[in-house]
Amino acid sequence: MNRPPILDFQHTFVPGRAARTLLLLHGTGGDETDLIPIGHALDSEAALLSPRGKVLENGMPRFFRRLAPGIFDEEDLIRRTHELAEFIELASENYHFDRQNLLAIGYSNGANIAASLLLLRPGTLGGAALLRPMVPLVPEKPPDLKGAPVLIAAANHDTMAPPDEARQLAALLRGAGADLTVSFENAGHGLTEETIATVKRWLMEKAR
Ligand code: MLT
Repeated sequence: MNRPPILDFQHTFVPGRAARTLLLLHGTGGDETDLIPIGHALDSEAALLSPRGKVLENGMPRFFRRLAPGIFDEEDLIRRTHELAEFIELASENYHFDRQNLLAIGYSNGANIAASLLLLRPGTLGGAALLRPMVPLVPEKPPDLKGAPVLIAAANHDTMAPPDEARQLAALLRGAGADLTVSFENAGHGLTEETIATVKRWLMEKAR
């Protein structure tokens, strides 16, 4: 039997009461259940779509391969970005949500694939909150992200995704026309209550 391609990603979908949908993208070693409580805390009325990354690194799910910490397999990243974009397009038809109202909330590896979606498949998302991101890749030609709300929530003591990476990514996204908000907190790579509060404020401002 031909299975619908949407089932190709293990995922959770939680219907919402608002038109908004949050796309939750976990960090290395996470899965589709990880960010559900954060999704509810950020926006109790939004629908939630949470896929599990298909790449396994020593048994830990990720959204694309890396050669070493912070060094990405670009060919795999590009392929996986298109694969995820296609999943999102099919999911929007299947679950009846509008991709203009779809905001990615990505943490660490999930932030990096969300940034890659913005750079390579700019129409896929309405916007994104990138928590502890790096520069996933530099596209050959800059995408048109005109007016798309994007938040970079970086941290001053992050050794995995150093503040300089966040600044470079900010320059790339700003150059593409995104409506960019950047915040730096005094923390490390892990998410804090302050990070969640920052995202919540940004969502209230940009997405309601
Ligand atoms: C990545 O591989 O995307 C980054 O190194 C962050 C991580 O997931 O550890």
